[in-house]
Amino acid sequence: MPKISVGRSEEDQEEYGLKGTGVVGKHLVGENQEAHMANPIHFDLAKPHVVGVFGKRGTGKSYSLGTIVEELQTADIAENLSTILIDPMGIYWSMKRPNEKDISILDQWDLKPEAFEAEVYIPKGKAAEFDKKEMPYDDTFTLNPARLTAEEWKMAFGLNTNSELNILLERAVQELDEQYGDDYRIDHILEALEKFNFDSKTVKGLENRFMNAKDWGIFGEESSLDKLTERGELSVVDVSVFGQMSGGTRVQALIVGILGKRILRRRMAARRLEELDEMQGLDENEMPIVWMIIDEAHEFLPSDGKTPASEPLLRWVKIGREPGVSLVLATQQPAKLHPNALSQCDVLLSHRLTAQQDIDALGEIMQTYMRYDLKHYIQALPDRKGTGLILDDNSERIYPVQMRPRKSWHAGGTPDAFGD
Ligand SMILES: Nc1ncnc2c1ncn2[C@@H]1O[C@H](COP(=O)(O)OP(=O)(O)O)[C@@H](O)[C@H]1O
Ligand SMILES: [Mg+2]
Repeated sequence: MPKISVGRSEEDQEEYGLKGTGVVGKHLVGENQEAHMANPIHFDLAKPHVVGVFGKRGTGKSYSLGTIVEELQTADIAENLSTILIDPMGIYWSMKRPNEKDISILDQWDLKPEAFEAEVYIPKGKAAEFDKKEMPYDDTFTLNPARLTAEEWKMAFGLNTNSELNILLERAVQELDEQYGDDYRIDHILEALEKFNFDSKTVKGLENRFMNAKDWGIFGEESSLDKLTERGELSVVDVSVFGQMSGGTRVQALIVGILGKRILRRRMAARRLEELDEMQGLDENEMPIVWMIIDEAHEFLPSDGKTPASEPLLRWVKIGREPGVSLVLATQQPAKLHPNALSQCDVLLSHRLTAQQDIDALGEIMQTYMRYDLKHYIQALPDRKGTGLILDDNSERIYPVQMRPRKSWHAGGTPDAFGD
């Protein structure tokens, strides 16, 4: 049986075979109701990738992200990897539970329900809220406000560049940076705002925003990134508490942006050491290869406008191969994702899409090696849960796929009112 591996160059296939891959599903052969499952599809986890996961609502994007995470966790190279899952909906804590509800489908695939050791991180200042609602989490994170740039504050607050508010903000941040470096808190910022000769409306306006920022519950001492990037570990960064808040997606994007920036910087430093080791004939991995997996990615890296995560994520996309970071971006509407991210994806998993602009957006980047119009492939997919297309730029192949059932519980199912 010929082996299918996606995301892997021919050279790597020859050198490594299937080492460092994970089975995400099976190749679908035939069209529509005639389609049947054939060879397993192996997905390369060892090399850095930019992966796009698409499909309209309820077609299996979040579910498939979980499948990729399960493979990262159980791979033969898992100890050299570290997975950070950005969870804007608060659904991935359920990976701690085995998927008992799908035991019969799992059985057909010779798989068993399995619990995963997800470490769920929440903003420290929101711990009481989680405790009160008895929502489970494992640890908390904080960010050092002194390490935010004026630009990051501006975007987090949604200020206009030329507004008085922003001019005051820039002044204050500059002054504090000069005076205290990385060592000041929001209270220091609040004090500093009074010192400049701005009208009281501007000062009050900015004060209010910083008071709000205190309530986000994310500021304190910078928490160690080490715990988020440990070998073999899965960290779920649950930012769902901001989902309902007005301007909340900007706060989520701020968190993602800062994590992205810091992790990339650390990986770049680690890569330099690794190269020195290689020169001396040592083969040491100083810091695991980081996979950052982002659900609802259009919120962080939109095609229109800019969020605090835009630049850091675009850097991952652009230079991530070198330091060894991978990015998986899931979104309902690929056309709403930043075009630079879309064009840099080397593997796409597309569940069913219907909007023409989304199909066009995908078609454009993967056109060259398709025998038919992308629409043809999509229409040939059987109407079953978890079917899709995998487009692999590395092998220049397109595979209809049935994604495998999850070993761990998926909490993101569409609720219904039937109540069985
Ligand atoms: N590969 C699959 N095998 C079986 N069921 C699946 C599969 N993928 C998705 N589903 C079902 O579809 C539902 C919706 O998937 P989900 O990933 O939450 O959608 P969305 O695309 O909106 O993120 C899931 O709760 C699950 O029941
Ligand atoms: Mg989803």
